Amino acid sequence: MESIWSKTCDIRKREPLRGDSEADAVVIGGGMAGILTAYQLEKAGIETVVLEAERIGGGQTKNTTAKITSQHGMFCKTFIEKKGKETALKYVQSNQKAVEEYKRIIQGEKIDCDFEEMDSYVYSQDADKLKEEAEAACELGISAVYEKEIEIPVSCAGAVRFAHQAQFHPLKFIEAVADSLTVYEDSPVKEIEEHTVKTPCGTVQAGKIIFAAHFPFINFPGMYFARMHQERSYVLALEGAGTLNGMYIGDGESALSFRQYGRYLLLGGQGHRTGKNKEGGRYAALCGAAETLYPGSKEIARWSAQDCVTADEIPFIGTYAKERPAWIVATGFRKWGMSSSMSAAMLIRDMLCGNDNPHAEVFAPARFSAEEIPQIMKDSGTAVKGLTKRFFHIPGEMAGQLEPGHGAVVETAEGKAGVYKTEEGRIFQVDIVCPHLGCELAWNSDERTWDCPCHGSRFDYEGNLLEGPAQEGIHYE
Ligand code: FES
Repeated sequence: MESIWSKTCDIRKREPLRGDSEADAVVIGGGMAGILTAYQLEKAGIETVVLEAERIGGGQTKNTTAKITSQHGMFCKTFIEKKGKETALKYVQSNQKAVEEYKRIIQGEKIDCDFEEMDSYVYSQDADKLKEEAEAACELGISAVYEKEIEIPVSCAGAVRFAHQAQFHPLKFIEAVADSLTVYEDSPVKEIEEHTVKTPCGTVQAGKIIFAAHFPFINFPGMYFARMHQERSYVLALEGAGTLNGMYIGDGESALSFRQYGRYLLLGGQGHRTGKNKEGGRYAALCGAAETLYPGSKEIARWSAQDCVTADEIPFIGTYAKERPAWIVATGFRKWGMSSSMSAAMLIRDMLCGNDNPHAEVFAPARFSAEEIPQIMKDSGTAVKGLTKRFFHIPGEMAGQLEPGHGAVVETAEGKAGVYKTEEGRIFQVDIVCPHLGCELAWNSDERTWDCPCHGSRFDYEGNLLEGPAQEGIHYE
């Protein structure tokens, strides 16, 4: 399952870090947030090294729908009510500035990345809600209007339009921006000691260490695992589905997302909390929607994405923990990784340059949110005991009962284990205790993976680690 971005862009391979080096700052993670942070720091005269565990743009950046917008769903009215107008204003302004900054960089550096200025829409069945949202957005200084008629073939009462947003090809952009930076690939960070970041073949000593690798993998201090959860969503690229002149997202959990890329229409949706997809059918549901909305269209690509979500839905950007003043984190971008990555890059640049950034307080990880408490209680209840690697014997008749292409948790004499049977009848068994903090993993039938319902780590059916915060696989010893 390869995204339309991966299918249409090759990124130049970079060498791993070898030996010991020094820099003013080291960024862990070569996705959009990491590369943009390094870019902004270098432009400010701060010598920066990026360490990427695999390939740049190879994580969530290749899986985004790549909408660059300050319209983060139907959020303006809710944010004003929950956080107050001043906080909502700073949040929106930070993201709107991020949209402008993309335009400035792309024009200034003459980057060929299929960038298009495009209006953004959130649609809903509820006309009153839409009108209130448009008013709230205007209060926050956005050029927003309610429009009754929209071009996508969904049943709705219209949409709120944010003018002058944008869309692009994220991998073409990241490849161009990374070109002038010091980036090491295949350099996973295994340990951090004071100011030294260690990879298998080298170290970087730096005044500041920036965690921009999707989910912060150091558990203590910070406890980010207890302050965020992860969600998955799914995308189809369709050919023959016509052309759109805007970017769209629906209000509500089951709503769909739409944007155009060249001759393809990207249709997204079917979001769910990671680790909660036992029944599957996500791609089937999206294909059903494609058939209904765009009969005769043809699927060209399908892929999925994973998002970190904070309890108050505002990213964590700032000092990692008071015990680690030299560490900085950027995470919790929800579905809005493009604008949030740029907001993070500008904010971190200002932090390191000693500039006052009016939005810093809104994103500060040290903020307390009462919404976090139920989240922590819910997650801690799911943990199971024991992180010691175990060995299981799966009786032959138990494995025989599994349908080919299916996975399941089975009870054995030694405890629970995860079993998957390939279409050819080959059996793979894994330990279903998550190596992060011990929650029981759940089968994801759409992606044939073992997913953690607590903090969102994922593993393929052979037990290899796909996504953190876990740092190791679930193979038997
Ligand atoms: Fe934290 Fe699994 S226990 S990701």
